[in-house]
Amino acid sequence: MSPLAARLAVLATVLGATGVSIGAPAATVAAADPCAKIAGKQFVPPADALACLKSFPFNETLRQNVLTVVSRVFDFYTFEDYYLKSPPPFQDSTVNIRAELARINRTHYATDYDFNQDLYFFTNQLNDGHTRWLPNCQTTFQNLLPAPLVTLEEKGVQNVFVAPDSVEFVSLLGTAYTSFFDSIGFNWKRLAGAKVLKIEGQDPYEYAKVIAATKSGNYLDHGVRVNSVFSSYRISGNDYSQRFGDIAGPAFPDLTSLTLTLVPVNSTRAETVKVPFLSNYLGEPFTNKADFWAANCAANDETNGVDFKNDAQMAKISAQKATKLAKASIVQDVGPKSAVGLPSQFQPSLPTVPGSEGVIKSYILPDNKTGVMFVGSFEPDDFDQFQTDVQDTFTQFQAAGLTQLIVDLTNNGGGFVCLGHFLHAFLSGTNSLGSFPNPGYQSTNRANPLAQKILVSDIALGLTDNFSFYTPDNWAFINNTDMPLTHNYMQPPNTRTINGQKFIESQRFADICPIVVDLPAEPFFPPEKIAIVGNANCASTCAMFSTLMNERHNTTIAIFGGAPDFPMQFKGMAGNQVLEWFDIDSEIKTANLKDDPLAPPDLLVNADFRHNWRIAYSFLDETRPIEYVSELPHFRFAYTSDTYNNPQNLWTFAAGKLF
Ligand SMILES: *[C@@H]1O[C@H](CO)[C@@H](O)[C@H](O)[C@H]1NC(C)=O
Ligand SMILES: *[C@@H]1O[C@H](CO)[C@@H](O)[C@H](O)[C@H]1NC(C)=O
Ligand SMILES: *[C@@H]1O[C@H](CO)[C@@H](O)[C@H](O)[C@H]1NC(C)=O
Ligand SMILES: *[C@@H]1O[C@H](CO)[C@@H](O)[C@H](O)[C@H]1NC(C)=O
Ligand SMILES: *[C@@H]1O[C@H](CO)[C@@H](O)[C@H](O)[C@H]1NC(C)=O
Ligand SMILES: *[C@@H]1O[C@H](CO)[C@@H](O)[C@H](O)[C@H]1NC(C)=O
Ligand SMILES: *[C@@H]1O[C@H](CO)[C@@H](O)[C@H](O)[C@H]1NC(C)=O
Repeated sequence: MSPLAARLAVLATVLGATGVSIGAPAATVAAADPCAKIAGKQFVPPADALACLKSFPFNETLRQNVLTVVSRVFDFYTFEDYYLKSPPPFQDSTVNIRAELARINRTHYATDYDFNQDLYFFTNQLNDGHTRWLPNCQTTFQNLLPAPLVTLEEKGVQNVFVAPDSVEFVSLLGTAYTSFFDSIGFNWKRLAGAKVLKIEGQDPYEYAKVIAATKSGNYLDHGVRVNSVFSSYRISGNDYSQRFGDIAGPAFPDLTSLTLTLVPVNSTRAETVKVPFLSNYLGEPFTNKADFWAANCAANDETNGVDFKNDAQMAKISAQKATKLAKASIVQDVGPKSAVGLPSQFQPSLPTVPGSEGVIKSYILPDNKTGVMFVGSFEPDDFDQFQTDVQDTFTQFQAAGLTQLIVDLTNNGGGFVCLGHFLHAFLSGTNSLGSFPNPGYQSTNRANPLAQKILVSDIALGLTDNFSFYTPDNWAFINNTDMPLTHNYMQPPNTRTINGQKFIESQRFADICPIVVDLPAEPFFPPEKIAIVGNANCASTCAMFSTLMNERHNTTIAIFGGAPDFPMQFKGMAGNQVLEWFDIDSEIKTANLKDDPLAPPDLLVNADFRHNWRIAYSFLDETRPIEYVSELPHFRFAYTSDTYNNPQNLWTFAAGKLF
């Protein structure tokens, strides 16, 4: 117990002894145990959330364990050497990874939270949503502001506003959230639609750029990150949803309020309002500090990898973890996964076309010419169903005699690598694939000494792609024939120099994708009649898909939002396959290499350290990963109050502009 907590406990005991309050014993517990104070509550003031998180002292054993895991996993990271001097226009993502790890190893931290947050922001600042330290414990609370912000154009001028639909949107959090503001007499509803003149005393776009530079992460391009700070529509949990954005929904309960200078709707007078945050808890249930740690912070059965050859270990893990299909996705909102619905009045009023039950929602616009496919994610509940949904949709589009197609990729955080390649092949037709018949990319992984040992061991053990992503039967040669099970594609490895460092990678290979529907030889819509729209928060598989459409077919891409006159790429994070900590640790264990001196130990805490494990090489320049090729959208449009939260209005606008 800290001296202060001890003093408070004594005080509480004395009060209890005088019989002033029978609640005093509870107060004793609360003073000593800040987690007990907030147990069972879904929404709590940020200061209370933080007091619980900061009640766990710094632990050197945990630091050494975590940093050993993190530094040994970085050995597999494909982009490590680029970070020494990130090429323009991505130069703000320059970080000396090993120097940062050394700094974090020698920094004095008061609490476990401080250590984890420092490590979190170091990886966050790589701006690579594939490569992040994601501690479960410290990210169980998300701060939510009852005034989400958007950037809108009005009479040709763009400004930041409190989202005009704030009342409808924020009310969906329920009275557990809104009653707090009633209890403190704070009228958040009157802020809806207000024009924002300053945030924390700064120009609102400058503040947006600062948050994008220091908190958003995920996307390499600064311009793309600016859209992440604002509220936007998306598909989440197979349904329409609205994000708070990184200003109104940050990952940690560090801020208690945000000060806005604004002009409310129907007013002409600027006023300064301190808007309180309230934290949303969606971690595991707990009653006190000890079981908060046990439930959220200590490693559990699913934290560390398993030996996939061991049936007993396999039986313990969830089916999802046992599935071996390459994934490339980001974690857009680290905190609680409570998706708040897009208020129903702003959802499309058109009927959906069959095949719209999952992550894809498709429509025929009232012009009877334009088909719309909103592909909200490449991570459906069912891999095969995604493909049959696409096929069903196009059967309907064809029957309706449509002549043009809009694909909306707003807030698509990626998913299965092969579903991006599939959609590319389905939209463009197999005849268009030409001299590289694979629908995806030339790819490599890093051939570090431990990776080379894994591949050798997998081949010697006769393992197949059911067990490992390293086994050669996962891949095709670049002439698109499958590799034999015994082919060591890291011998000899390829080497090149990146920022003065010798980078060692595998030979080039291509994906082998399980395609369950017939791919058309000729496209349903000619390339010039397909347009992509979105907010550039299109990551991973989504970035690979849109880059394929751009590089191989010059597809029209239109991006909405961003800061005025601030450049923005059309995609966010275009790495390739991601391995979670569980995945790479399973690779090591399945290859019988957990005792190798280069192997990381098991994690002692409940966390993930994911990394970008593969590169996708650009068709425009096959020496460069698509991640580092600057590709701008053909069109940029501002959002308006009619389009920022209303997908159907946005598509109608786009159909009028893009064909
Ligand atoms: C630090 O963490 C380790 C591993 O969980 C634990 O065994 C040890 O007791 C902790 N040390 C302190 C001082 O709490
Ligand atoms: C941290 O620094 C100490 C002291 O130099 C060293 O012994 C230890 O191996 C370092 N830890 C890691 C994970 O590199
Ligand atoms: C603003 O004024 C218009 C016109 O008088 C009115 O329809 C609208 O409800 C007002 N909005 C608010 C938020 O007061
Ligand atoms: C589109 O088709 C529907 C149903 O066939 C018809 O009612 C509507 O008038 C058509 N709209 C246009 C713009 O042709
Ligand atoms: C791999 O998995 C598939 C599907 O679960 C199964 O049919 C097949 O027998 C497995 N192959 C091996 C070699 O285990
Ligand atoms: C494809 O490439 C591999 C490796 O270069 C080669 O061994 C194989 O014969 C090629 N297959 C065809 C059909 O060209
Ligand atoms: C791609 O399309 C744009 C029009 O959207 C055109 O200006 C440009 O020249 C095209 N580029 C190539 C390489 O065909």
